[in-house]
Amino acid sequence: MPELRPIETLLSADKIQARVAEMAKEIRHDFPDGLHLVAVLKGAFMFLSDLVRHMPGDVSLDFMALSSYAKGTTTSGEVRLLKDLDTTLDGKNVLIVEDIVDTGLTIAHLMDLFRTRQPRSVKVCALLHKPARARVEVKIDYLGFTIEDKFVVGYGLDFAERHRNLPYIGVVERS
Ligand code: IMP
Ligand code: MG
Repeated sequence: MPELRPIETLLSADKIQARVAEMAKEIRHDFPDGLHLVAVLKGAFMFLSDLVRHMPGDVSLDFMALSSYAKGTTTSGEVRLLKDLDTTLDGKNVLIVEDIVDTGLTIAHLMDLFRTRQPRSVKVCALLHKPARARVEVKIDYLGFTIEDKFVVGYGLDFAERHRNLPYIGVVERS
């Protein structure tokens, strides 16, 4: 395995934790009667696990795996469904949980797909947004942070499957 390059911190673990707690509170307030969270694997796993710890009450979870990146840091523009949901969305208040909205293609694809499954509502929650790279317009109902056009890793996000384990978000230094 090649050596890991140094990472420059963009968002500290403390900053992320504080924002995630705020977001959870806001979401819970908006859905007092229960909520069905759908996390997009793999990137959203850490965000989801922190988010739900701040959400008491009636919450259910499901997972979906999609891929728009072949390998490395450029998008192919094509969204592939790697794993579908286990449970129905019928009549549920659905919240899609994403790590980052970059081109917007993944969320746009999911919104189209989910609308065919008769949920009561569908909203989007993303930890990060990179508006500079938007290719389609998507509405993010709950957003953690807007970031510049840099490739970030950590807190679930990877570069070629590495760095997901970092508790903070950083930028891989080019060397
Ligand atoms: P979109 O379909 O272009 O919006 O891409 C969304 C997906 O691309 C995210 O869920 C991530 O998995 C991946 N992605 C986009 N930007 C980054 C990044 O800066 N670091 C790591 N993964 C990224
Ligand atoms: Mg993702």
